[in-house]
Amino acid sequence: MTWLITGGAGYIGAHVARIMADAGERVIALDDLSAGVPHRLPTDIPLIQGSSLDGELLKRTFAEHTVTGVVHLAARKQVGESVAQPTHYYQENVGGLATLLEAVAEAGIERFLFSSSAAVYGNPDVDLITEDTPCAPMSPYGETKLTGEWLVRAAGRAHGIATVCLRYFNVAGAAAPELADTGVFNVVPMVFDRLTRDEAPRIFGDDYPTPDGTCVRDYIHVADLAEAHLAAARRLTAAGATGDLTVNIGRGEGVSVRELVTLIGEVTGDTRPAIVEPRRPGDAPRAVASAALAAKELGWTARRGVREMVESAWRGWRLHHGG
Ligand SMILES: NC(=O)c1ccc[n+]([C@@H]2O[C@H](COP(=O)([O-])OP(=O)(O)OC[C@H]3O[C@@H](n4cnc5c(N)ncnc54)[C@H](O)[C@@H]3O)[C@@H](O)[C@H]2O)c1
Repeated sequence: MTWLITGGAGYIGAHVARIMADAGERVIALDDLSAGVPHRLPTDIPLIQGSSLDGELLKRTFAEHTVTGVVHLAARKQVGESVAQPTHYYQENVGGLATLLEAVAEAGIERFLFSSSAAVYGNPDVDLITEDTPCAPMSPYGETKLTGEWLVRAAGRAHGIATVCLRYFNVAGAAAPELADTGVFNVVPMVFDRLTRDEAPRIFGDDYPTPDGTCVRDYIHVADLAEAHLAAARRLTAAGATGDLTVNIGRGEGVSVRELVTLIGEVTGDTRPAIVEPRRPGDAPRAVASAALAAKELGWTARRGVREMVESAWRGWRLHHGG
């Protein structure tokens, strides 16, 4: 098998590329470097600089490298930006996927893995979110992920491509400091950013109907997430693999924002109290995955805890930002 990993120079993509290469798969990466960092990839993984919207480049790449499977992570991922620029998000995330699937079908590639997100669920009022929980995304970003899943499944059926959609919950941590998330869009780097600026962490709302009043999330270590991709890739390459699978990738354990901020204080040694600000519109009180289907279908369960996520993320933050 040779796998093309789109978004392979990104935070999650580089983890996936490395773990798959370490497991003996042939891997090449494609990334337009809009957010990617080339040196996240070891030199033995070729990086093609270009966009998933460039059908000709995809065609050439598939032929030159005899690609037999695709892991599609390339996407724009900022919820707020997607609200301000919905057409751009649909063009990149849905248009890019359609172009890619067309090239995949034309090249006769039969395995496809898609990066989806818990954002497809929106704000469901359930204790554990299962894959049968109705989807109601609350942002154009979430809509592009849900539309993407529909497109992946429809193309799979039409062209005989076996597909897996992984719905990631809140990704954190780093397998090595140089692989850390360099963006400041998720809660862990956001708190690090505040502390590095000598400012108190912010908590948006402490009057939610949760045990300590702050929002509860399901955090997943990026190294566990990368292992889930390897498990999904192995499922796709098993003899006779057909059809589609859509599965949550989380730990099935809720951690409140206040618990997370306290843990970050312990790890960084900066225990200044958080400031509580008003709720942000659209934040669900609780979003925790049922991890049962992933265990059953992929034989995969997360192994790393939240402290390991925060510690490894902090090592990465200090490498990139000091502190
Ligand atoms: N980080 C999270 O918490 C999270 C949660 C759920 C889902 N996801 C999804 O996981 C995937 C990877 O996210 P990430 O956190 O690693 O983000 P990231 O921004 O670090 O990685 C995305 C990569 O894709 C590249 N890219 C973007 N558009 C492209 C295009 N049209 N063609 C080629 N390359 C392109 C970027 O340069 C970047 O390297 C995305 O699809 C994202 O929506 C992430």
